[in-house]
Amino acid sequence: MLLSGATLAIVLIVVSAPRSAPAELIVIGTGVHRELPPAQFGKAWRGAYDIFVARCTKCHRVARVIDALQLGVTPVTRQKFETTTIPKYVVKMLRKGKSGIAKDEARQIVEFLLAARKLAQRPAAPAPLPTPPQPAAPTPPPTPTPTPSSSPAPAPTANPTPAATPAARDAGAAGAVQGASS
Ligand code: HEC
Repeated sequence: MLLSGATLAIVLIVVSAPRSAPAELIVIGTGVHRELPPAQFGKAWRGAYDIFVARCTKCHRVARVIDALQLGVTPVTRQKFETTTIPKYVVKMLRKGKSGIAKDEARQIVEFLLAARKLAQRPAAPAPLPTPPQPAAPTPPPTPTPTPSSSPAPAPTANPTPAATPAARDAGAAGAVQGASS
């Protein structure tokens, strides 16, 4: 269908909206003082969130991690911070001297960061879809209804030659309808 195709195209445009679009990941504060309010993650994430904040703010601010979450790129070395690389970064941080991060904690932090990154990639609110531009499609001629033999189709007035066959008559009728509508 033409309309659903157009709608799909619009949805794709919305989905591939630029990075500047507001995301569902809520960040409060500015600059190095940015934080992730815990309430947005729900109670199920509370334990992981607390571990994340306790362990990942020991050497630098959480803003560094927020940068990575929001951009999908790490702020210092400009590497991808995505599903595939987030675990590597947590391990890298774990291995730093005196990180104090236990393996079990690292696992929970990874889960938390993956969920947070997903939130950051989602648009904040479903943007109202713009009205799809209505294509100026020509109105198709009405399909000639099969005329029962008892009621013959009225002879088209615009057609100078009398219709000889039913097919010709139908064609003439269609022509007359089109002629009348233009
Ligand atoms: C022991 C200190 C320490 C701890 C604990 C620590 N970090 Fe780091 N982090 C660093 C240092 C130092 C850097 C600078 C870049 C580097 O060495 O990779 C850094 C850089 C980063 C970067 C940017 C990396 C880049 O390549 O741009 C991210 C993201 C990050 N840390 C996330 C975390 C997370 C998540 C945690 C908790 C699991 C954490 N850090 C815990 C020391 C630490």
